[in-house]
Amino acid sequence: MTALTFTARKIDDATKGSSQCVILPLYHRKKLSREAQQLDGASGGMIKKAMALGDFSGKSGESCLLPGVAGAKRLLLVGCGDPATFDRVAAREFTRTLAKAVNATKASDAVLHVSDLHLKDANSAWLLETMSRQLVCAAYRYTETVSKPKAPMKLAKLIVNTGDSRTVRSGQKALDRGAAVGRGINEARRLADLPGNVCTPTYLAQQARVLAKNNSKLTTTVLEEKKMRELGMGSLLSVTAGTDQPAKLIVMNYKGGKAGQKPYVLVGKGITFDSGGISLKPGAKMDEMKFDMGGAASVFGTLHTVTELGLPLNVIGIVAAAENMPGGGATKPGDVVTSMSGKTIEVLNTDAEGRLVLCDALTYAGRFKPQVVIDIATLTGACVVALGSHATGLYANQDKLAEQLLAAGVESHDRAWRMPLWDDYQKQLDSNYADVANIGGPGGGSVTAACFLARFTQDYHWAHLDIAGSAWDSSPKGATGRPVGLLTQYLMQHAD
Ligand code: BES
Ligand code: MN
Ligand code: ZN
Repeated sequence: MTALTFTARKIDDATKGSSQCVILPLYHRKKLSREAQQLDGASGGMIKKAMALGDFSGKSGESCLLPGVAGAKRLLLVGCGDPATFDRVAAREFTRTLAKAVNATKASDAVLHVSDLHLKDANSAWLLETMSRQLVCAAYRYTETVSKPKAPMKLAKLIVNTGDSRTVRSGQKALDRGAAVGRGINEARRLADLPGNVCTPTYLAQQARVLAKNNSKLTTTVLEEKKMRELGMGSLLSVTAGTDQPAKLIVMNYKGGKAGQKPYVLVGKGITFDSGGISLKPGAKMDEMKFDMGGAASVFGTLHTVTELGLPLNVIGIVAAAENMPGGGATKPGDVVTSMSGKTIEVLNTDAEGRLVLCDALTYAGRFKPQVVIDIATLTGACVVALGSHATGLYANQDKLAEQLLAAGVESHDRAWRMPLWDDYQKQLDSNYADVANIGGPGGGSVTAACFLARFTQDYHWAHLDIAGSAWDSSPKGATGRPVGLLTQYLMQHAD
């Protein structure tokens, strides 16, 4: 993948300097920006002529490629729509159009003039951070198991003219943050897109070691099944009983904060393939269950960004990695297992395996005396029924944490919606044969799954993100990298 770099600058004269492409954002029916006027003048009125011909009017979604002017080999006009309604939504649409149009050229570097862009509902740092993040995400290609992968994005270097020397430094910081978040999102997508025969628990453990190797502040520990057995993780181990792939409990410890500072702990569901086990899933779309490690992928992606930015926080990523398969030794419906917490669990459905691996990982998380614990899991089909793919389901045992995560989701456009965690639902999990059953019947499936986890997280502030709907798209098939945007936003807010 080409590394896309961003540089903030102040450029007084847009006709000076050389580049393969100059990108001009233009509003609909508004006088040209200073830079547009300079380039229009240097080109004998080419921009105004194109507009008079009606080829380009500055409407949102429009773009127009013109021949070069002065030192620029090309001139790309990109529509911003009505300046009175130019907001976050319009800015994202603008960046999408820009990415598509510039990628259709052969330009490997470009200069973008943003001095005329003022958002109704956000500052310029938001704009630059969002743009660099979006452009890095637009450069994502899945390459690993295809002989002739899609051509990479050609753009490798973007210079951004902020138009003001006072905003060059803050602009650079915003561009760097956005790019780092984009790379974290892409890393989550890469891991989740990998097939189950490549991305096994062992593969994930290797990835964690690679991350640690490249970062002096990060250490990785991998707990093997033997160690998990010693710790009493009978619930996690019951999920891996039917497969030949060894399960791994991966712990990534990032120490960017002060020694005594309580860590933010992220716990990811890492089911590298979910066949359902003995409670086998139907065949249709079963391939999509390779994405069942999307929560784990988001933990990797978030740590990728956190380490790249060197955030002054302590963050621990825990990934419960296992494959859920039927087999001679597999757990059967009706089996009772003992979790690390000591609670016994009646496994009524082996397809409700996510909560079984998570409960032990969540108990383990308590060892780190966490500030907060956030688990991320493609946990229930019921969450997809409730919220579709736009919102992640959010559950929390503390209102402040819930509010902060919701706000981080809005800010990063990686939104979540709060769901109830009321005790009223708990009795659906009653069992005659164990302390708790692993399913809660047909009603409120996403809620009862969260209620199951709540029984293991009473010692700390905890939130649960059900990303079954938001972690991937089904047409075209692909991982979204969510909720890396939300999580990194939340952590960055706590690092300032
Ligand atoms: N990984 C699935 C949840 C899932 C389903 C994610 C569809 C994305 C799309 C999870 O392990 C599962 O199988 N959940 C069951 C729970 C049920 C047996 C209580 C489900 O949702 O059907
Ligand atoms: Mn399942
Ligand atoms: Zn699953």
